[in-house]
Amino acid sequence: MSRPASLRTRLAALVGVGAVLALGACSSSGGADAGSDGGSGGDLIRVGFSQLGAESGWRTANTESVKASLTEENGFDLNFVDAQQKQENQIKALRDFVAQDVDVIAFSPVIETGWDEVLQEIKDSGIPVVLVDRTVDTSVEDPFVTWIGADFEQEGRTAGEWVAENAPDAKVFELQGTLGSGAQVDREKGFNDVVGDQVIGKASGNFTRAEGRTAVEAALQAYPEMNLIFTHNDDMGLGAIEAIEAAGKVPGEDIQIVSVDGVRDGLQALVDKKFNFVVECNPVFGDQLAELIRKVVDGEDVPETTVVEDKSFDQTITQADVDARPY
Ligand code: AHR
Repeated sequence: MSRPASLRTRLAALVGVGAVLALGACSSSGGADAGSDGGSGGDLIRVGFSQLGAESGWRTANTESVKASLTEENGFDLNFVDAQQKQENQIKALRDFVAQDVDVIAFSPVIETGWDEVLQEIKDSGIPVVLVDRTVDTSVEDPFVTWIGADFEQEGRTAGEWVAENAPDAKVFELQGTLGSGAQVDREKGFNDVVGDQVIGKASGNFTRAEGRTAVEAALQAYPEMNLIFTHNDDMGLGAIEAIEAAGKVPGEDIQIVSVDGVRDGLQALVDKKFNFVVECNPVFGDQLAELIRKVVDGEDVPETTVVEDKSFDQTITQADVDARPY
């Protein structure tokens, strides 16, 4: 099976413009209906936001950031709908937003495929789409005006580079997020490009702590030689800690854990030496999202891609750093 295209490749294909690969390149939102209010100067901007769920600490922080930014005081009338990690719920919410004739539709797609029909319906309605966090893989041309999120492939690569440098002989089990999601597809690609030959097994924990624990319980039986877990998010890694300890092993020592996200509980596990390395995925970009939406409604140029900046953390992190973490 061929490897999925990278985020940049897929975004470029989606917007159909080869010259916009450079991050931060600008495109016009012109052509999209700027809404019935004639811009953000007067009435509130009516935004329909379909959040994919509440599966993780990251998602909770992202939802809080979005809600804190898209407020009435800031000029928004937000209709926020939680899809509970079900694509059919998201599709229904998107259709409701079209029926409500909102000014802008924003959504974070739970998986990449299966959006063609509803994206075409939105396009036909003239409502501009702002894609948030994850990506789509669709045959619809120009399905969204702008996208904001993290570079998942780079996150996977950063995790792989830590493994290559610090645990080059490790036998790795990869605890994957929701299969078919942009976060899973791209983190797998980035990590496997660097240390794919070290991966002895993979399974999905659907980005949740409970399913992460279950997947690692099974992996401990199937791959008794594994001594490092690369988990696609902190919540599943915390579930992995529970499974490892229940099996009488020491997380961070007998089985090292490399994670993605950097929520407070994940960083606490790093201070406690149960996680070994954490690649940040920053969920706090509500302000940037609000700014993008304002510009889209006002017909101003917006970047086709806005990549949220990520850091990484090792066990030199202090308790004070963790206590100061806002989420
Ligand atoms: O799409 C971002 C990912 O989704 C986060 O890494 C994960 O925690 C969440 O569920």
